[in-house]
Amino acid sequence: MKVVLTPRGAARVLARHPWVWQSDVRTLPDEPGIYPIYGPRGPLGWALVNPRSLISVRMFHFGPADDPMAALWRNLERALEFRQAAYATEPAAGLRLVYAEADLLPGLAVDSYARHLVVQAHAAAWEPLLGELTLRLEAALEPAGILAKHDAPVREREGLERYVRTLAGRVPERVEVREGAVRYRVALARGQKTGAFLDQRDNRLLLEDYVRGRGFRRGLDVFAYEGLFALHLAPHLEAVDVVDSSAAALALARENAELNGAANLNFTEANAFDLLRAKERAGERYDVIVLDPPAFAARKADRERALAAYKEVNLRALKLLAPGGLLATASCSHHVPEADFYAMLASAAADAHRVVRVRERRGQGWDHPTLLTVPETHYLKFALLEVLT
Ligand SMILES: C[S@@+](CC[C@H](N)C(=O)[O-])C[C@H]1O[C@@H](n2cnc3c(N)ncnc32)[C@H](O)[C@@H]1O
Repeated sequence: MKVVLTPRGAARVLARHPWVWQSDVRTLPDEPGIYPIYGPRGPLGWALVNPRSLISVRMFHFGPADDPMAALWRNLERALEFRQAAYATEPAAGLRLVYAEADLLPGLAVDSYARHLVVQAHAAAWEPLLGELTLRLEAALEPAGILAKHDAPVREREGLERYVRTLAGRVPERVEVREGAVRYRVALARGQKTGAFLDQRDNRLLLEDYVRGRGFRRGLDVFAYEGLFALHLAPHLEAVDVVDSSAAALALARENAELNGAANLNFTEANAFDLLRAKERAGERYDVIVLDPPAFAARKADRERALAAYKEVNLRALKLLAPGGLLATASCSHHVPEADFYAMLASAAADAHRVVRVRERRGQGWDHPTLLTVPETHYLKFALLEVLT
């Protein structure tokens, strides 16, 4: 059976966006799977298709293919080749091996934590392919184990069951990972995302480089999760305050502090909005602050409200910084474009009456590449700001 798109759906695919919405598809199959995609003028390529999903078509191959399955697995080979050197030379590291649409493997993420792989497949057509995916990952990478972490609520929107299951080898509850001089334990089956926020790895290492030897005294890591930014700051500061609203996250952060012998971390379970306001009222001062909130805009309609929330925390953080201090601030909302993020930061700086210099303008790490024609792949905005006065 072939899947036929409307002219609008076809135009999107011709512009090399892999997603087509249900409303832009003329004929859909009853069952999820891999199907040829046609526009009003003929064949366009091959896609993972799910009639039950709002994003019904996810292209993995543009143009004709004699053997579409071979084309799909070639995309996997290319994704692994791209990261091969890092996987081979840094066996204890955390590394994203497959980044979904940006690797033309829609809805699929594979992360490696010290060579224990965590797979997340959020498109229904992957389900019957998991056996073959496992064999191919084993053959290419010889990992210690492979876990399917299929517990995200988004699977329900695809009509998929939620479960966590070992696909191959041995997957311990915790794995120790290295990131520069920092060691941390990842709760593979129970952690947020695939266990850690690997997209910020390069930014954490960068921030440590900026802070090393600066003579800074106090740091604040807000929205800290397992405390990784704080652990990178700890050796270079007298004290770092670590804040998260999740007790489970702070328990991981405490464990990680112990693992690194970092005795200068103070943990506070709190709502960041309340805590920053209280610190401002108390006239506290910091030399470096990290703001790495969750995605405030889950949908496009939330954009304005999300920008107001981002502005609130950034404004407070800018007020708390000593002159010469650094603010490392991020947004991982797909629905907040980079230009809006920087406009929000400028507005926060103006309202805080501070002169702020942009030292770094970055995104997610190199192993989470972006596609020019798919802005959604560039979701993480990360700015390193210096307060001059
Ligand atoms: C993107 S993660 C942080 C990742 C972390 N910086 C890292 O590098 O691993 C966001 C964190 O914010 C926490 N969080 C969500 N809402 C919060 C709130 N209102 N106040 C404080 N923490 C919050 C979540 O529990 C989560 O751990």
